[in-house]
Amino acid sequence: MSHLFSDTIHIVEVGLRDGFQNQPTLVATEDKLQMLAMLVDAGFDTIETGSFVRPDLVPQMADSAEILRNSLHYPINNISLIINEKGYDRAYAAGSRSMASVVMVSETMSQQNSRMSVAKSIQIAQRLAVRAARDGVRMRIYISTAWVCPYEGQIAPEQVLRVADKLIALDPAELVLSDTIGHAHPMQVAKLIEMIARRIDMERISAHFHDTQALGLANAYAAIDSGVRTLDASFGGLGGCPFAPGAKGNLATEDLVFLAHKMGFETGIDLGRLLDVVAFTESVMDRPLGGRTRDQCEEAIACAIV
Ligand code: COA
Ligand code: ZN
Repeated sequence: MSHLFSDTIHIVEVGLRDGFQNQPTLVATEDKLQMLAMLVDAGFDTIETGSFVRPDLVPQMADSAEILRNSLHYPINNISLIINEKGYDRAYAAGSRSMASVVMVSETMSQQNSRMSVAKSIQIAQRLAVRAARDGVRMRIYISTAWVCPYEGQIAPEQVLRVADKLIALDPAELVLSDTIGHAHPMQVAKLIEMIARRIDMERISAHFHDTQALGLANAYAAIDSGVRTLDASFGGLGGCPFAPGAKGNLATEDLVFLAHKMGFETGIDLGRLLDVVAFTESVMDRPLGGRTRDQCEEAIACAIV
């Protein structure tokens, strides 16, 4: 483990967006607001609260303006995901001053998810960056399908770099490397991060993993070991992309917090309170959620008692 980098791991909680956008049943706005309040209470200072995409295509995110307006009462960086200028307009009008835009590296995935070519989405990212700079909006940019695409398979690092160079030129607050369907492995993760870190400061590289093949935590470790200190995660391992076949749950935040604390990093997150959010969400969704940490905590507590 390198000691050149910070001892704090900063977690961007994306469950309210990436977690819920793919759920077959709609989660009530008041339940989401309760989860938001509990997440803030657990110590999260950066939460992606929703997305301003087409509500007819992603009805789960139709209440994003309401969630955002409520989230503005908390002292947090509340991020709104956007894909086009109309999304920017809606998010800005609802009060968002921190956004995440998306560029898919894979041409097929870009068409499926965003209904535009990669070149067009880069042009849009450029226009959004200009507007964000003018409006004082913080912009992080996702580079999605950065390792594997559900349609095109393995993505060569050089293909990612061609896109990354254009986005780095926009001076984003962060560049988020996203394993959209959770098919990357740790050596690929380390390799790409090393290549990107030659082009932009490590402090501005973030990573986003899914746990489809049970490698979410291994990939997160690879990113951390490479020097990345900002990672997305989703409470309870909720998640997936409705336009990416095979995209299962995100890396569970509780697993990442557990790993980080065990390795001696600070996160500012109270794991017990985070597990309370997971338990509440399980009761709302009436099914068990995916993170594996809870079992270990319960076992640890049981062991401590006997
Ligand atoms: N919010 C609400 N409505 C939008 C919109 C947005 N961000 N973008 C476009 N629209 C509306 C337009 O106003 C237009 O409506 P009209 O026919 O009543 O005039 C209609 O949608 C079509 O507009 P168009 O510019 O052709 O949009 P599009 O279909 O190319 O939309 C996306 C592009 C990306 C916004 C859309 O495909 C989408 O929302 N996809 C969801 C992707 C997603 O959430 N993925 C997971 C996260 S990465
Ligand atoms: Zn995701």
